[in-house]
Amino acid sequence: SHFQLDTKAADKWLNEGEQTDWALEVKRAHETVHNGTGRGSDFLGWVEPLDVDGEIVQNVLAAAKRIRANSDVLLVIGIGGSYAGARAGIEMLTHAFRNQFAAERQGPEVYFIGHNLSATYITQLFQLIEGKDVSVNVISKSGTTTEPALAFRLVRDWMVNKYGVKAGERIYATTDEKKGALRTLSDSEGYTTFVIPDDVGGRYSVLTPVGLLPMAAAGIDIEAMLRGAHEAKEVYSNGNLAENSCYQYAAYRNDLYRKGKGIELLVSYDPRFITFAEWWKQLFGESEGKEHKGIYPASVQFTTDLHSMGQYIQEGPRHLFETVLWVDEAGHDELKVPHQEGDLDGLNYLTGKSVNFVNQQAMLGTLEAHQDGEVPNFVLHIPELTAHNVGHLFYFFEKACAISGYLLDVNPFDQPGVEAYKKNMFRLLGKPSK
Ligand code: PA5
Repeated sequence: SHFQLDTKAADKWLNEGEQTDWALEVKRAHETVHNGTGRGSDFLGWVEPLDVDGEIVQNVLAAAKRIRANSDVLLVIGIGGSYAGARAGIEMLTHAFRNQFAAERQGPEVYFIGHNLSATYITQLFQLIEGKDVSVNVISKSGTTTEPALAFRLVRDWMVNKYGVKAGERIYATTDEKKGALRTLSDSEGYTTFVIPDDVGGRYSVLTPVGLLPMAAAGIDIEAMLRGAHEAKEVYSNGNLAENSCYQYAAYRNDLYRKGKGIELLVSYDPRFITFAEWWKQLFGESEGKEHKGIYPASVQFTTDLHSMGQYIQEGPRHLFETVLWVDEAGHDELKVPHQEGDLDGLNYLTGKSVNFVNQQAMLGTLEAHQDGEVPNFVLHIPELTAHNVGHLFYFFEKACAISGYLLDVNPFDQPGVEAYKKNMFRLLGKPSK
């Protein structure tokens, strides 16, 4: 079924000022995606999620099983679209302290590397894994991205040093089917490889082996996740705006943008969403920020940030709107506020109330306050944080992003702007031109 989008706390703005025929615009954008007639249409491979029973998924599961059987640690090397999705999935679906908590952990400790150029981070990660059995999943579509390539060179030395000629048996490469440096290297070293399809861009690749292998190794049920994505594909393939919450989200955020709300804050009330927000920021920022257009995607974590950014949101410039991710069944309802003799902290009025209840009242109170402060809010209801629903959620935003990009009239699938810094960096580093 649909994830419900509650627009009540935004309706005032949506019904105010100039009115757009969103049903019509959305129908056009829907046809553009589904008929493959828009800009970037050779990058629509994500629209059809992988076959749950297909060979690719079976191969990913087999590799994950091997990693789980012979590794204390899995190092996942990648950046951008080859990084954020897997991390988001693992943080949403596994124990908050999984790496430190062997008794609760499914599979190896999982660490990410290759998403920065910090010598300290890299050095300290090597210190941490000393003496442990390690497998590696290096992920790079192009195979030439500097950060993961550099990290992999260091990791490969470490692996060869420890395992000698057998190192290659513990290295899994996810890359282009035919081209690129990582493909050539994998073929010559005999690594197990997985393919990033040509027609799926990095930021839309979480439900391909890019995200699936690390998530499966971490113990996540990726078959359930893919079933959730298939469900989302079905329910959000309806071109009728009134019946499609994904398209409503895409349309109404554009409505607010046209009315001067240039910044969207993705809000959640659980730290499990921190990296998911990073994934979402990449998806929308890289898809829409071009031709001097686009909503600036930002994120806050509540209630934590109500004690910091809350001031700005309540009273700063009125160019913001919020999209709240709310999990209806958050779990652990058994955690309740205990009674305390003397009530010195003044909390006895909450005795017997669940922590979830308190969190929910914080959400409702904030929604009201921010609306009063002229910040429109959408609330996206996620029934429960399961692998199935997370697959649905990834798909919801991928589809919304494609539709939203076409409503904005940009190509939601290219990223010409990320090359500028690289050109300068390569010049400064003296990279030889080929
Ligand atoms: O979305 C994108 O295209 C980028 O974020 C890439 O995923 C990122 O730069 C990593 O690229 P690659 O997988 O080629 O190493």
